[in-house]
Amino acid sequence: MKRVKMLAGNWKMNKLNRELAGFFATFFESVGWYRDETISDRIDVLFAVPATLMAQAVPLAEPNGVRIAAQNIHWESAGAFTGEISLPMITEAGVTATLIGHSERRQYFAETDETVSRKTKAALNADVMPIVCIGETLDQREAGLTQEVVSRQVKAALEGIEDPKDLVLAYEPVWAIGTGRSATAAQAQEVHAEIRQLLRAKYGQSIGSSIRVLYGGSATPSNIEDLLSQKDIDGALVGGASLKPDDFAKMVRAGL
Ligand code: PGA
Repeated sequence: MKRVKMLAGNWKMNKLNRELAGFFATFFESVGWYRDETISDRIDVLFAVPATLMAQAVPLAEPNGVRIAAQNIHWESAGAFTGEISLPMITEAGVTATLIGHSERRQYFAETDETVSRKTKAALNADVMPIVCIGETLDQREAGLTQEVVSRQVKAALEGIEDPKDLVLAYEPVWAIGTGRSATAAQAQEVHAEIRQLLRAKYGQSIGSSIRVLYGGSATPSNIEDLLSQKDIDGALVGGASLKPDDFAKMVRAGL
């Protein structure tokens, strides 16, 4: 089963509306996007942006076949949840995907396996593509718990989900995020292969083989080719390097 590679930028709490037009102009030019009509069929590109940027980013990205994603959502569609954002709100802005359970949300904002599971179900019900993030901390890796932690997180996120639709998983070892210390391609592949096994066990060979698993954590133009050459790595979730249009363009080209 051929999986289309995905390069997803995660802008975290960065950028202002006034930077968007310049960013996307440089990015598309640098990829060579307008010179090759087939690019948007050969790779999925997406940017997870802060809520204030969604409405202006969508018309700059979507007409070129690039998705804009949220970085987090609430599982309820409306209500007394000060500071939260709902699926109808992001879809109204033209957003078609969302990160769920990023380790920064688990670490600083009390996201748990249970809230990840609720959000994942809500996103699928709303036809919004969930990109569910999982990954072990350094302590867990050093204690030999990587497989156990990742497996628990994957199972919890997918519990009760019979049809995963276009769900994407992102394996992001916490110790590799924003540290400049990426997992080696072999370290990442080992965990990706285990995740692939779990997916096949749960959904069967065909669906289990079609779900994309991205790697995230200090992915850059210099290590992306190595990472993408691994059998079970279907793309990358990119923080720091996605803020620089030329760097991210190089990474997209590596995925073509
Ligand atoms: P990084 O972030 O590429 O800056 O390490 C990745 C992420 O947090 O998604």
